[in-house]
Amino acid sequence: MKSRSRESKSLGNFTGTLVLVGAGKMGSAMLDGWLVRGLKPKHVAVIEPQPSKPLKALARRGLKLNPKGKTAPASAVVIAVKPQTAPEAVPPLAGYAGKTTLVLSIMAGRTIGFLEKSLPPGTAIVRAMPNTPAAIGRGISVAVANANVSPRQRKQATNLLAAIGKVEWVSNEALMDAVTALSGSGPAYLFLLAEAMTKAGIAAGLPAELAGNLARETVTGSGELLYRSNLDAAVLRQNVTSPGGTTAAALEVLMGPGGFDEILTQAVAAATRRSRTLAG
Ligand SMILES: NC(=O)c1ccc[n+]([C@@H]2O[C@H](COP(=O)([O-])OP(=O)(O)OC[C@H]3O[C@@H](n4cnc5c(N)ncnc54)[C@H](OP(=O)(O)O)[C@@H]3O)[C@@H](O)[C@H]2O)c1
Repeated sequence: MKSRSRESKSLGNFTGTLVLVGAGKMGSAMLDGWLVRGLKPKHVAVIEPQPSKPLKALARRGLKLNPKGKTAPASAVVIAVKPQTAPEAVPPLAGYAGKTTLVLSIMAGRTIGFLEKSLPPGTAIVRAMPNTPAAIGRGISVAVANANVSPRQRKQATNLLAAIGKVEWVSNEALMDAVTALSGSGPAYLFLLAEAMTKAGIAAGLPAELAGNLARETVTGSGELLYRSNLDAAVLRQNVTSPGGTTAAALEVLMGPGGFDEILTQAVAAATRRSRTLAG
């Protein structure tokens, strides 16, 4: 088994101000992760119309909540508002974007081009796509940078995103549609798998509650096994499949014509197309 200790890149040395715009589900998960990594509340400013109780408590420990007055360039600005809020939320951030500021956006579908139009020329921008397991620090984000991002800022973006899970980089922004379709929407595919397994168990004669528990524990336990293992998914699958056995009988159906591979390929292609359309 791999020892997958969470990357503990310290943010204790962070200097200047980190401005978080939008402290909803994702923004709060990121903020929690940054604080765990040693970021001091006094280095954080949060813009959030409806601050939660924990956010207000952090404000009493030095975090600046909805700062008023003239804005000064920040070290980093993290944009975590809904994509539809972007046209009103992003332009006012121009005052925070100085020559050395990193702007990191996790808004689905909002392109680097959109952000460049709303921010001063020359702004260093990273666009990233995380996924829902970020809420428990087990997400995966894929990031892409514009030409203004320095190696130091790239490292800084990796550090900020590492607070909610693993980080991958691509150099071609067009890949973000497929990324959205695979890892962005992917958690829903796994939840659907658990639902479908529950229904299949009931159809095979199991009581509903037992079927639900078996499906849930099988999906989550197998996910954890895959996470901790050095082996590929294909090898783990082969390891639980004896020739002529029960698993083999099921896999003949799942891997046959119209099976998992085909359906998932079609599903991911449909999500990729939708992501392209939504991004315009
Ligand atoms: N959730 C995911 O799994 C996921 C995955 C990938 C990417 N993302 C991206 O992450 C971003 C945040 O998603 P989320 O699920 O965290 O959404 P969310 O829970 O709705 O959080 C957005 C927050 O921004 C606040 N807000 C609205 N207008 C604002 C403004 N003008 N300035 C500052 N804050 C403002 C909202 O406050 P109000 O509630 O008062 O409007 C809310 O608290 C989205 O762009 C989404 O595409 C999310």
